[in-house]
Amino acid sequence: MIRKGTRKKKVVLAYSGGLDTSVIIKWLGEHYNCDVVAFIADLGQGEDLKAIRRKALDTGAVKAVVKDCRKEFAEHYVLPALRAGAVYERKYLLATALGRPLIAEHLVRTAHKEGADAVAHGSTGKGNDQVRFDVSVRALDPALKIIVPIREWELKSRDEEIAYARKHRIPVPVTKDKPYSIDRNLWGTSIECGILEDPWESPPDDIFSAVTLPHLAPAKAQEIEIGFSKGVPVSLNGRRLDLVSLIRQLNRTGGKHGVGITDLVENRLVGIKSREIYEAPGATILHTAHREMESLVLDRETLHLKEILVTKYAELVYYGWWFSPLREALDAFVNSTQRTVTGQVRLQLFKGSCRPTGRKSPHSLYDRKLATYEEDDAFDHSAGEAFSKIWGLPLETHARVRNRRRR
Ligand code: ARG
Repeated sequence: MIRKGTRKKKVVLAYSGGLDTSVIIKWLGEHYNCDVVAFIADLGQGEDLKAIRRKALDTGAVKAVVKDCRKEFAEHYVLPALRAGAVYERKYLLATALGRPLIAEHLVRTAHKEGADAVAHGSTGKGNDQVRFDVSVRALDPALKIIVPIREWELKSRDEEIAYARKHRIPVPVTKDKPYSIDRNLWGTSIECGILEDPWESPPDDIFSAVTLPHLAPAKAQEIEIGFSKGVPVSLNGRRLDLVSLIRQLNRTGGKHGVGITDLVENRLVGIKSREIYEAPGATILHTAHREMESLVLDRETLHLKEILVTKYAELVYYGWWFSPLREALDAFVNSTQRTVTGQVRLQLFKGSCRPTGRKSPHSLYDRKLATYEEDDAFDHSAGEAFSKIWGLPLETHARVRNRRRR
């Protein structure tokens, strides 16, 4: 147990380089009399992490560790969610939500390695991320203490926090005209606060960084072809690519064509509705393509059950239950469905839309002879007549009884 004011302890902090976590380094030192080890995860946020590491040390961290987690993030967090088809409230592709358990796992590992007494993070008391961090850390090591300074400190407003930062010579990056909270990684960008807090206000053009506004995107459509092997996207336009490179390439191409902007009023786990803007070009393309592949190779009932279960999958990711037996069980189901999800999907990107235009697979269940309305039709029409008779029998019976009563 770590107590304020006792002998020097060690805390591993999930550090982003932003104002909150910078203030936290100082605040932890002051209030918990502890050494702070800053942990900086590279999830493909595209920032200068060397500079962020420097900033952590300059702000008072005794050690700052940068870890390139992009491959791990793509293969062990993004990929299972993609294969599952996990989308929260029909729109959110879960970029931020998927990053949290990974960061939590590394906080725990770093804490063990450094012999730390606690971990800390910079989430607020009313968001989803605090829950995701807390729950993930507890699921991995229930004995580890978790400190969440923003939930307990005396800094009551943004202005007080800025004053504290200035007093301790911490650079203050946010200005009044761009007061957004932005979380970015390989899988997407989440943007909230400022004028976006009014759900009726249109998002200002200048908040977008990854996606060109659709009306400004090229007037010429672009076709791309994505290859899948057992539900894993493995190639782009015939060229094999590792997952990180593939996502990055699709972020660029999709972004250029205005693909992947979402505006969502969502239900947070803590009961609040909030409005968030998402930019996720690569994720949008991959989800569209993967879904298209499945439509060709999965039988109807498996596809339909997967659609039901996937709501649960998205919820558990959103709710911070990544390290749960339920996710393992759902992953086992998803794995089994993905055995035949192999083939190619062609899509057309044009001014914000991402439209599948073709799909093929060695495991395709599409049988033209059954589907066709041409002469070589192989479907047994008499079976069709018998089938619809049996299928409608309960309704026919119901109607007969109802009509008898009416007479
Ligand atoms: N609403 C998203 C989620 O709960 C993103 C949260 C972080 N958003 C942000 N702009 N910092 O996963």
